[in-house]
Order: sequence, then C-alpha cells, then structure tokens
Amino acid sequence: MKPEATFLGSSIGKKIVMALTGIVLVLFVIGHMAGNLQVYKGAEALNGYSEFLHHFLHGAGLWIARIVLLACVALHIWAAAGLTRMNAAARPVAYRKVHHEASTWASRYMRVTGFILLFFIVFHLLNLTTGQWHPGGTFVKGEVYANLISTFQVKWVAALYIVAMIALAGHLSHGIWSLMQTLGWNHPRYNALRKQLAWIVTALVVIANISFPVAVLAGILH
Ligand code: HEM
Repeated sequence: MKPEATFLGSSIGKKIVMALTGIVLVLFVIGHMAGNLQVYKGAEALNGYSEFLHHFLHGAGLWIARIVLLACVALHIWAAAGLTRMNAAARPVAYRKVHHEASTWASRYMRVTGFILLFFIVFHLLNLTTGQWHPGGTFVKGEVYANLISTFQVKWVAALYIVAMIALAGHLSHGIWSLMQTLGWNHPRYNALRKQLAWIVTALVVIANISFPVAVLAGILH
C-alpha cells in the first residue's frame, strides 16, 4: 500500500495530528503563562509554585508532562514536514510570482515562526530550567524568581524573549484558527467568531508573556 493511502500518510491525517498536538501545546502555553503570573505576587509565590510542580505526584507529574509535550512537539513537526513535502510534490514547478490575496501574514510565515519557536524553546530551557546559558548572573536551581529577574535585566536577553513572543503571536493566531478548521468547527456563520477567538487567546498569552521582561526592564519587578 502506498504511504499516502494510510491515515497518517494522508494529508488529512497529518492535518489532524497537527491539530490535536496543537491543542495540547496551546493548552500548555496558556497554563504556563497563567503560572508565570505568580511573578507579580513575588518571589515566594513563584518559587512555591515551581516547587509544587516539581513535587507533583512525587515528581512523576512533571516528567509525564515533559514526555507528553516532547511527543507533541515531535509529532507536530513530523506532520508539518510531511505536509510541506506533499505540497511541494503536488507543485513540482514553483510559482514564478506568488500572489497572497487570500492568505494572512501569519499563515505565510508558519514555518518561519515555528523554527523561531523551536530555537526559543532550546535557549529558554538552557536559560531558565537547566541554567547552562544564563546571561545576567549565576543560575541557582529552585530560585526561579531571582533567575528570571537577573536574566531579564540583560536588555538583549529581554529583547530576544520579546521577539520570540512576536513569533508566538503569529504562530498561535493562525494555528488556533487553522486547527478549528481542521476539526470541522468551520461553519460560515462562526468563521468571524473563530478568528476572534484565536486572536483573544493569542493576545492574552502574548501580552502577559511580554509583560514579564518589560516589567523587569521598567524596574517594576526587581
Ligand atoms: C516571557 C515568557 C516566558 C517566561 C517568563 C517563562 C518562564 C519560565 C520559567 C521561569 C521556567 C522554569 C520553571 C521552573 O523551573 O519551575 C520555564 C520553563 C519552561 N518553559 Fe517557559 N517562560 C516563558 C515562555 C515560554 C513559552 C512561550 C514556552 C513554549 C513555547 C515555554 C516553554 C517552557 C518549557 C517547556 C519549560 C520547561 C518545563 C520543565 O520541563 O521543567 N516558556 N519557563
């Protein structure tokens, strides 16, 4: 049987994999942003929240979440690469001139914003989870608040996070809209609502996330 004839080999199968893993990743990003809001309550609240996560289910909770997230990221990229390959095969001769009337900025740059987010996640883990890359001072395990403040006090690190969050805005706004379409929530009557919902979720996550480095640079958090 040709690979295209199987569910996972077909383009709709890959789109469903992208949508389902996308939902998990969107929920993670919302939860992570909400948890990080503890920073505004102070060091004790943020460090306490982190300690709770690390000891949830005797430490197994965090590892289960890590494994699920890693699997979702891997499947999401696998499906995206497969769809790109299938689209290229369907059009062996590239368009001489591409017209973008019906597509948005976010949809055209999904691959670019996806790559930026992948690089972001790697440097973010080294920066705030493992501490091997921590401009701004010494990384101390468990001192989540101090680690966050010291690294965002470095202007270019704060700027890097802000750029990554702009990529996140593009990726999320189109991704949420698109996953709803794939899963069939695309009745013409609700299309405007779908777009609004995608933008509301994106704006909440991205504005809150950008507020953290901005609050440190402005001296509100110290
Ligand atoms: C300005 C925005 C963000 C801030 C301030 C932030 C802050 C943090 C902090 C402090 C930690 C360490 C938590 C701990 O050790 O308990 C962390 C971990 C993490 N963050 Fe973020 N984060 C941000 C955005 C993001 C985004 C957009 C993503 C995903 C696209 C993300 C993915 C992760 C992951 C996967 C971990 C590791 C969790 C683990 O396995 O321990 N973060 N973040």
